Amino acid sequence: MSAQKDRYQNLQYRRSGRSGLLLPAISLGLWQNFGADAPSERRRAIVLRAFDLGITHFDLANNYGPPPGSAEENFGQILATGLAGHRDELVISTKAGYDMWPGPYGEWGSRKYLLASLDQSLKRMRLEYVDIFYSHRFDPDTPLEETMGALDTAVRQGKALYAGISSYSAERTREAAAILRQLGTPVLIHQPSYSMLNRWIEAELLDVLKDEGIGCIVFSPLAQGTLTDRYLTGIPEGSRASHPGSIRPEMLSEANLAKIRALNEIATRRGQSLAQMALAWALRNPVVTSALVGASSVAQLEQNVAALNKLEFSPAELAEIDRYATDGGINLWAKSSAG
Ligand SMILES: NC(=O)c1ccc[n+]([C@@H]2O[C@H](COP(=O)([O-])OP(=O)(O)OC[C@H]3O[C@@H](n4cnc5c(N)ncnc54)[C@H](OP(=O)(O)O)[C@@H]3O)[C@@H](O)[C@H]2O)c1
Repeated sequence: MSAQKDRYQNLQYRRSGRSGLLLPAISLGLWQNFGADAPSERRRAIVLRAFDLGITHFDLANNYGPPPGSAEENFGQILATGLAGHRDELVISTKAGYDMWPGPYGEWGSRKYLLASLDQSLKRMRLEYVDIFYSHRFDPDTPLEETMGALDTAVRQGKALYAGISSYSAERTREAAAILRQLGTPVLIHQPSYSMLNRWIEAELLDVLKDEGIGCIVFSPLAQGTLTDRYLTGIPEGSRASHPGSIRPEMLSEANLAKIRALNEIATRRGQSLAQMALAWALRNPVVTSALVGASSVAQLEQNVAALNKLEFSPAELAEIDRYATDGGINLWAKSSAG
């Protein structure tokens, strides 16, 4: 593939906390749409278009698929065949924390699990190292010193360049930061869920991240696609909500749909799609380094990146959004950040 020469001209890059690493304001996640169930030509087209648009950061995890591991395998294949020679232009992350293989060493936060999982991820992606290795969720039964120690080891082994944590509470984030600082491997970034229907990070976490100099990459900023025009007039075939999985029916309750419709009207007045306004809104706080989106088509991705053309909000717009941007009961990851 010959990459587009002007690919770094249009996207914004923001510093992750007090680190040296810049991340694109919009990053691409491969949680869904990149497993064995998705057409390979579409997977490839989305990743290569992302790269051409200036998206340098691709986010994975051991369990992304289905089946678990297949997103990493597929991404490794795209890298080898479509992006060979561009490894140093890419920031690739993976994670371990959720159920991955049978037995007591296949999930949570032990050193045994994390380091074995990272080795497996590297093999699947055909990489020598990842840029960021995350603890995917807080493990209440493993000493935090052990989980953070495993991240530090991964960095010292050269298998990861930076360490990250995902869905940790404000308090656990402070503890994790202190442990890793002492080990000499600072926490680069926190990956929490955040959107207009799920604002939990505003209470405390953002202040902690600012204070500690940790970056923040917010996931599901479109609330899995519900903060777009996708469900305004029903559930289209092929959409994420059309098959059983991570969008529960109550997420599309009448109460939530009323909020989504009102937000859609505000977006229209701003001359943006609701998806674009949702992304601009998620990025309005400078502590947020990047909005981590998913996409099931190149067109969705292109529309999302165009959100960067209008990031500013007037105080009146923000106040109006606040009336509808209230908790929609959609945070599937609340348990981890309550630990
Ligand atoms: N750390 C964690 O625990 C964790 C958890 C969840 C996610 N993540 C990360 O965050 C990434 C993003 O999560 P997500 O996929 O839930 O994010 P999202 O951006 O909130 O939702 C993406 C989905 O929204 C729909 N969509 C996207 N752009 C659209 C547009 N312009 N118009 C209409 N619909 C649009 C598509 O759904 P359709 O399929 O219906 O088209 C797409 O698959 C994941 O891939 C993963 O990397 C991390």
